Amino acid sequence: MGEVAKLILEGKTYELPVVVGSEGEKAIDISALRAKTGYITLDPGFANTGSCQSAITFMDGEKGILRHRGIPVQELAAKSSFVETAFLLINGRLPRREELKRFSQLLNEHSLVHEDLHSFYRLFPRESHPMLILASMVTALRAFYPRLVGLSQSEEINITVTRLLSKLRTMAAMSYKLSLGHRVIYPRPDLSYCANFLNMMFDNPVRPYQLDDELVKALDVFWILHADHEQNCSTAAVRVVGSARVNLYAAVSAGIAALWGPLHGGANQQVIEMLEQIQAGGGEVRPFIARAKDKNDEFRLMGFGHRVYRTYDPRAQIMQDMCHRVLDKLQRQDPLLDIAKRLEEEALKDSYFQDHNLYPNVDFYSGILLRALGIPNNMFTVMFAIGRLPGWIAQWKESAQDPEWRISRPRQVYVGQTETRYVPMEARDGKEGEAAEPQQRPSEPYSAVLPRP
Ligand code: SDX
Repeated sequence: MGEVAKLILEGKTYELPVVVGSEGEKAIDISALRAKTGYITLDPGFANTGSCQSAITFMDGEKGILRHRGIPVQELAAKSSFVETAFLLINGRLPRREELKRFSQLLNEHSLVHEDLHSFYRLFPRESHPMLILASMVTALRAFYPRLVGLSQSEEINITVTRLLSKLRTMAAMSYKLSLGHRVIYPRPDLSYCANFLNMMFDNPVRPYQLDDELVKALDVFWILHADHEQNCSTAAVRVVGSARVNLYAAVSAGIAALWGPLHGGANQQVIEMLEQIQAGGGEVRPFIARAKDKNDEFRLMGFGHRVYRTYDPRAQIMQDMCHRVLDKLQRQDPLLDIAKRLEEEALKDSYFQDHNLYPNVDFYSGILLRALGIPNNMFTVMFAIGRLPGWIAQWKESAQDPEWRISRPRQVYVGQTETRYVPMEARDGKEGEAAEPQQRPSEPYSAVLPRP
C-alpha cells in the first residue's frame, strides 16, 4: 500500500490514498471522501485541486519549468515547428518524417472552409470582437461537418482534429479580411501552416504580401509558446464541457470563450492597451505600478502574475527575445517595447511584486511581437487561441479516452436561506399581514432602463 494521508474528523481517523506523479508531485485522492466521511472539500478557483492525471504537459511554477511530453518548451521553440509540436501534444510523441509530411498534407487538405460559412460572417455587426466570431463559427462547424459514421473512434477523432486545426486558422484570417470589407484570401497548397496564415491575413490583389522567413519563424515560435499549459482556465473549460460527451467543436468553443477573459488570454490585448495608455501619458510607469498596488483601485498590471508560476514565465523570456529579433529584422523600433521593459524593471524592484511573486507572464510581451507582425490588437487573443488549439485537443482527447473520466459535476456548500414557505403575492406587496421585513425586502432587480433590444 502506498503513502496515505490521515484525516481526523469528529474523533474518527480516515486514511486517504496519496497519488505521486512522475515528477514527484503529490496529491491526496479524495474521490471516496464523501462516501467515507460525508464531508466534501472546498477550494474556490481550484488553486489546490487537481482535476485529472495528465501525461501531456508538466509545469513547475517555483522553478519556471514548462515541458510538453517531457520536452522543455525552450527546445521546442528552438528546434521544432508548431505543426510538429501539435503532433507531439496530440499523439504523445514526435512524428517520424513520413508522419509529419502526411500530417502537413492533411492540414492542407482540410484548410478550406465550407463556402456557406462565409455568409455567417456578414451577419455579425462589423465591429464584433473576433473572439466572439471565432467561438460562434467553431460551434457552427459541426453543422457542416457532422459525425463521421462508419469510422473507428480514433479515425473519426484524427480527421475531426485535423479539420479543426486547419480550419480555425483559416476562419481567423477570414474574420479579419471580412471585417475590413476585403475579399477572403484562400489558403495555398505551397505554403506552410504559418506562412499560409500570414498570407491569408495580409495578401491582397493590389499589394501582394511578401512573406519573410524571419516573420514566419516568429509566428511559429509564438504558437509553440502558446500550445499547451496543463489545466489553465480555458483547458479546464474544454475538459468540463467535453466531459458531457459533447462534440469537440462545442468543447473548443467553450475554451475560446474562457480564453477571451481579460484575466486569461484576453490579457495580451489588455497589455498593449495599458502600454499605449502609459505612452499617451508621457511614458511614466511609476503611477501604474502604484495603481497596481492600490487595493482600492481595481487596476492590475496586465501581463503580470500567474496562478502557477512564482517566478519568470519561461515563455515570456523567449517572447521578449523574439520581439528584439523581429524588430531588428524589420529595422523598426517599438516605443511600447521600451515602455514594457521599463515597467518590468520597476515592478521587479518593488517589494509588492516581489512579495506577491508577480512576474511577467506569456502575455506581457506577446502583443509587441504581434504588432510587429502586423496583427491588429483585437486579433491578439485569436492568435492565442490558434496556438492553444493543439493543447485543448490533446487534453480533450486524453479525457475522452480516460476510462476513469466521468461528467464533471462539482459539489458546493449551501449557505442560503434554510427551508421557508411560499409567500403569496398579496403578502409580498405588503397589502396583507406584515410587510416583508425591510432587510428581507429584495433589491429591485430589472428596474434598470434597458437599452432598445
Ligand atoms: C494566462 O493558467 C494559465 O496557465 C494561464 C496562461 C496559459 O498559458 O493558459 O498562462 C495564460 O492567462 C496568463 C495570465 C494572464 N492574465 C493577466 O496577465 C492578468 C493580470 N494577472 C492577474 O489578474 C493574476 O495574476 C492572474 C489572474 C493571472 C492570477 O490570479 P490568481 O492566481 O487568482 O491570483 P490573485 O488574483 O488571487 O492575486 C493574488 C495576489 C492578490 O493580492 P492580495 O489580495 O493577496 O494582497 O496578487 C495580486 C492580487 O491583488 N495580484 C496582482 C496582479 N496579479 C495578482 N496585483 C497587481 N497586478 C497583478 N497583475
